[in-house]
Amino acid sequence: MSDNNPIDLATPVLLPEPRYDTGGAVAALGRSKASRRSFIKGVIASGAAASSASYVFGGLAGCTPEQAATPGGVERLMSLNVNGEVRRVDVLPNETLAMTLRYKLNLTGTKLGCDRGECGACTVLVDGIPNYSCSTLTHTVRDKAVRTIEGLEGPNGDLHPVQQAMIDELGPQCGFCTPGQIMSAVALLERNSSPTRDEVRHAMSGNLCRCGAYDHYLNAVMRAAQSA
Ligand code: FES
Ligand code: FES
Repeated sequence: MSDNNPIDLATPVLLPEPRYDTGGAVAALGRSKASRRSFIKGVIASGAAASSASYVFGGLAGCTPEQAATPGGVERLMSLNVNGEVRRVDVLPNETLAMTLRYKLNLTGTKLGCDRGECGACTVLVDGIPNYSCSTLTHTVRDKAVRTIEGLEGPNGDLHPVQQAMIDELGPQCGFCTPGQIMSAVALLERNSSPTRDEVRHAMSGNLCRCGAYDHYLNAVMRAAQSA
């Protein structure tokens, strides 16, 4: 090595042998014959499965069966009055009403949009009052009457006047927000059978529609009020 050239390019540098963490996933990739592409695809697939499972069961997670037996814990098996029927259902302490309705009682007309009290897609009536079921713990409604979109059906399978008016006024576009919109409208008309357009707008202001069908919904509720 000359004094003028501190970097010796002539002498080969010996790097230490790579050491693998025998327990790590990346190390496993290094040892396996799997291609980088197939490894990444596997990671993405498992991540997608985990996140979709947590979306579906997020409201059901976090409780072990043992929690039901802890002193002061709530009784999990409860009777829920839904659409005039008493349904026995096993409910976790932190379970939301939307989760119970959709995934325990198969009442999937109630939709889950934001799952955090912002969009109104999950609106159901509790003792006649519109509630966001995604933000209501099922155990808090054990003495109350819950009404969902399925409960609006007449004895002969007839549509509720609000549902019929929604069709007549071409209210739903994609339809995802429609059950929540209808439940808010039904609650309004049951306490005020001839609302003004502004009163309807105010009563339904907690129900967002990403398709922007607000005027159609307003027309439908006004039509239903006039036909009653
Ligand atoms: S899903 Fe409940 S408010 Fe959006
Ligand atoms: S009709 Fe599509 S979100 Fe309202």
